[in-house]
This record gives sequence, structure tokens and C-alpha cells, in this order.
Amino acid sequence: MPTSKWPSAEWYEGIRAQELAPLSQGPINTQQQQKVIALGKVLFFDPRVGRGEKTCATCHHPDIYWVDRRQTAAGIATHHRNTPSMENVWYVKGQLFHDGRAKTYAEQIAEAIESPIEMGGNTYTLPVKLAAIKGYHHLFDEAYGDANITRTRILDALAIYSQSIVSGETHFDRFIQGDYTALSDQQIEGLHLFRTKGKCINCHHGPYLTDLQYHNLGYAVD
Ligand code: HEC
Ligand code: HEC
Repeated sequence: MPTSKWPSAEWYEGIRAQELAPLSQGPINTQQQQKVIALGKVLFFDPRVGRGEKTCATCHHPDIYWVDRRQTAAGIATHHRNTPSMENVWYVKGQLFHDGRAKTYAEQIAEAIESPIEMGGNTYTLPVKLAAIKGYHHLFDEAYGDANITRTRILDALAIYSQSIVSGETHFDRFIQGDYTALSDQQIEGLHLFRTKGKCINCHHGPYLTDLQYHNLGYAVD
């Protein structure tokens, strides 16, 4: 049964209602962008991109769904922020970070590299630093057709790699694509409550279970 035939969800007034829906695989053609992704992946795991202590993966750890399972990210404790997953991060394009302050992935990634409480690096001197590392010449050449190492290319490769990270298929994904045996009766009951009495769907809706809005949840932080 398509969602249009499901019992109607209970919406609050003024909500731009968006039904739950299958999540597409994102904008990155991983075949075409294979070489850029390969470069971005190396940069993601290289501490030399920052001041040598942390890599992107220190916080966005691939073995645990691209998070760090810490209440607040290392170094970011004073800002009371935990690490969001990288999975399907392409979906939040145009409004990255918890307050949407970064408009592009490149902008957001430059901030992660440069912030003294994150990687403490410098994206402007980074090209020269990476040029001194032999292995990078080949990777940049493969990705961009010549071995020039530029700030734009570094941020682009990290941005393309970031957007290539997508979630694996879950029971819910199969259910929403039409395999109605994928969820148990109890899970379907939960889904029903989620869309009706629980009113969760008012904020958690659409293919990514989010309205991409910024809600005041009643706690006061900076
Ligand atoms: C010290 C831990 C840490 C490191 C290192 C780090 N991040 Fe993050 N990352 C975070 C935290 C915490 C946030 C959320 C910050 C906020 O919302 O203000 C975040 C947010 C993001 C987001 C936006 C997610 C969203 O939903 O808006 C992306 C993309 C991202 N990081 C990629 C990277 C990349 C690429 C690197 C390496 C260049 C990196 N991060 C390094 C902790 C880290
Ligand atoms: C008013 C909007 C709103 C409603 C209604 C709402 N949520 Fe949320 N929910 C949020 C926001 C915003 C966050 C992120 C909080 C944060 O990161 O600090 C969140 C986070 C979550 C998370 C954690 C997600 C993660 O990635 O860590 C779960 C699980 C969740 N909500 C489930 C529910 C359920 C179940 C209901 C219904 C009973 C519900 N929510 C109703 C806004 C809402």
C-alpha cells in the first residue's frame, strides 16, 4: 500500500507536511567520481590535513556509523555538541551544522580543518604542505587531470567524498519501497503511532525523517 493509502498522519497546524518516502542514493555518481572520492578518502583519514592530532575520522568514525559515541565531540565539549553521522549528509546540503551556518560543504569542511578545537590546521598553507608529500601528487593527478594541489581541490575532494557516504538498507527502507513483510506487526504499530498519536512525523518526515528545520528543544546552550 502506498503511503497515500495509509491512515492519515496527524499534523500540527502550519506544518509543511511531507510524507515518509524512500531515500534516493544521493547526487554523487560514485563510478564517475571514483578518483576524486579516492583522494577525498585519503584526506579524510590523514592527520596532516590538520595540525597532526585529529583526522576527520577521529570524530566521524566509519566503524560506528561515522560518529564517535561521545556525549560531546573531543575538543568541542565546551560547545555541547556531539558529532553527527556522515551518512546521507548530502541530504542536508545548503544548511550544514546544527544551526545551518555553513552553506556549502567546502565552507563547512574548511571550518572543521581550521577550527583550533577541531583539527587546528590552515587550508591556505595546506597545499604546500601536501605538495611535500610524494603520494599526493599522483592522487591529485588521477582526480583532476594534473598534479596541481590547490585549496579548492582539497575541499572539493573532501566534499565529494563526504557526500558519497550513504546509509545501508534497513528493514524500514525495504518497507517504504513496498516490501510490506520487512517490518514486524509490532514495528508497524510503532510506525503508526509515529505518524499519528506520537506526532513524531511533524518534525521527522520526508525521505530522511527530518524537516531540516531548527527547533528550540528547550535547552539553553550557546
Ligand atoms: C573534533 C571532532 C570533529 C572533527 C575532527 C571533524 N568533525 Fe565534522 N563535525 C563534528 C561536529 C561536532 C559537528 C557538528 C557541529 C555543529 O553542528 O556545530 C560536525 C559536522 C560535520 C558535518 C555537517 C553535518 C551536518 O549534518 O550538518 C560534516 C559534513 C562534517 N562534519 C565533515 C567533516 C570532515 C570532512 C572533517 C575533516 C576535514 C570533519 N568533519 C572533522 C565533529 C568533528
Ligand atoms: C518539535 C519537533 C520534534 C518532534 C515532534 C519530535 N522530535 Fe525527535 N528530534 C527533534 C530534534 C530537533 C532532534 C535533534 C536533537 C539534537 O540533536 O539535539 C530530535 C532527535 C530525535 C532522535 C535522535 C536522532 C539522532 O540522530 O540522534 C530520535 C530517535 C527522535 N528524535 C525520535 C522522536 C520520536 C520517536 C518522536 C515522537 C514520539 C519525536 N522524535 C518527536 C525534533 C522533534
